[in-house]
Amino acid sequence: MARPATIFSCSACGAQSPKWHGRCPSCGEWNTLVEERAPAPGAGGGRGRSGGAGGPGAAAGKAVPLRDVRVERTPRLHTGIGELDRVLGGGLVPGSLVLLGGSPGIGKSTLTNMALGHLAAAGRRTLYVSGEESAAQIRLRAERLGAHALEVPVLAETDLDAVLATMRAEGPEACVIDSVQTLHSAALDSAPGTVGQVREVATRIAEVAKRSGTAVLLVGHVTKEGSLAGPRVLEHLVDCVLQFEGERERTYRTLRALKNRFGSTNDVGVFEMAANGLAEVLDASARFVGEATKAPGSVVLAAMEGSRPLLVEVQALVSPSELVPPRRVCNGLDRNRLALVLAVLGRHAGVGVGAADVFVNVVGGVRIDEPGADVAVALAVASAARGVATSPAPLACFGEIGLTGELRSVAHPERRSAEAEKFGLRQVLSPATAPTLRAAVKAALGDRDRPVRAA
Ligand code: TYD
Ligand code: MG
Repeated sequence: MARPATIFSCSACGAQSPKWHGRCPSCGEWNTLVEERAPAPGAGGGRGRSGGAGGPGAAAGKAVPLRDVRVERTPRLHTGIGELDRVLGGGLVPGSLVLLGGSPGIGKSTLTNMALGHLAAAGRRTLYVSGEESAAQIRLRAERLGAHALEVPVLAETDLDAVLATMRAEGPEACVIDSVQTLHSAALDSAPGTVGQVREVATRIAEVAKRSGTAVLLVGHVTKEGSLAGPRVLEHLVDCVLQFEGERERTYRTLRALKNRFGSTNDVGVFEMAANGLAEVLDASARFVGEATKAPGSVVLAAMEGSRPLLVEVQALVSPSELVPPRRVCNGLDRNRLALVLAVLGRHAGVGVGAADVFVNVVGGVRIDEPGADVAVALAVASAARGVATSPAPLACFGEIGLTGELRSVAHPERRSAEAEKFGLRQVLSPATAPTLRAAVKAALGDRDRPVRAA
């Protein structure tokens, strides 16, 4: 009897079955069976090179000291978008696979289309594969992005084999797959976007890309919970995972690397959605400081976004609540971190918010994921709770808060202070100037009985 073309393997225990089950017959977990292409007969388990994965007949490989390994340093492809190149660690690496994740409408198609446009204008062979939009729709977008973007060859196709054949025929140096969840391999029965399909699509595209030296940008959707829908599996397979974040209604978007085999994961690019595509925001600090309200509840955080300092405004509102428990809402920050900051404020700095609602927001849709933001959150809340603006206003600050109420130093204090000074914020409140949160609150807001007026 012919072997079935696909098998189902359990993503929890690895058991394989020729049929789909709702519950794994081996480990009893629900919904873990994923369709996969069965290894071709005679391929000896798939992975091994020359018949048999490590069987007695396998030839021994030769291990080489790293010093003697030859490295071909192929120049990177510059996408012409400075912020994107920086986040990638200097441009696209030929033969690499980059996964670009982000929620719908954030601008993934716009960004990738612009990148290919610039590459095409620089004389590179490019290919834009779209499984989501028709060629006409892509053209309409490209018209807004300028003449470069119209140079890019497009293929509106969802069949994986057709896409691979086109990639082989066109031999692009840079290729965008928009999106990996819409392509479909006929070898599997499952629907596009399922784990098995996404893995199959990415693996086969990776094979072609490695062989032809094509730099591939895979666009992936993100679920409401913020994980890449389905393709968590993809994160292992690709060389670089970029996350495009921000809220659709807001103008600012940040691009950061969650994983990068060819560069650091620290860099962040800031973009703004404009009428003619995404514009890089090079002076993000200046904008955020310029827009800071200087009102009670507003503080400027001297943050580090990777290797780059960034000044952002943190705002807080404290208002009486009827709800039990009261609301603790934050935007652009970790909720648990807010809970910790509120606890330390109450216990060690004499600023209790008690049963009031607390809202904290990082202005501009920026997301801050570093402990250095603690002091800014604490001071914004303290300032809001007391109804007193900081002195001076706006006040720049940074520092981590310890559980015993101390301020702890964070990375790159000089660069943060320098950035603040560059934008006219001379006085920077940091662990170096205030050893404890109590001292920080006092320095920023004055004594409780003698509130300091905004300068
Ligand atoms: P898009 O790149 O299609 O998002 P994604 O591929 O991540 O789903 O576009 C995002 C939004 O940006 C879309 O709603 C329209 C808007 N937009 C502009 O405001 N200006 C522009 O120049 C373009 C191309 C899109
Ligand atoms: Mg899109």
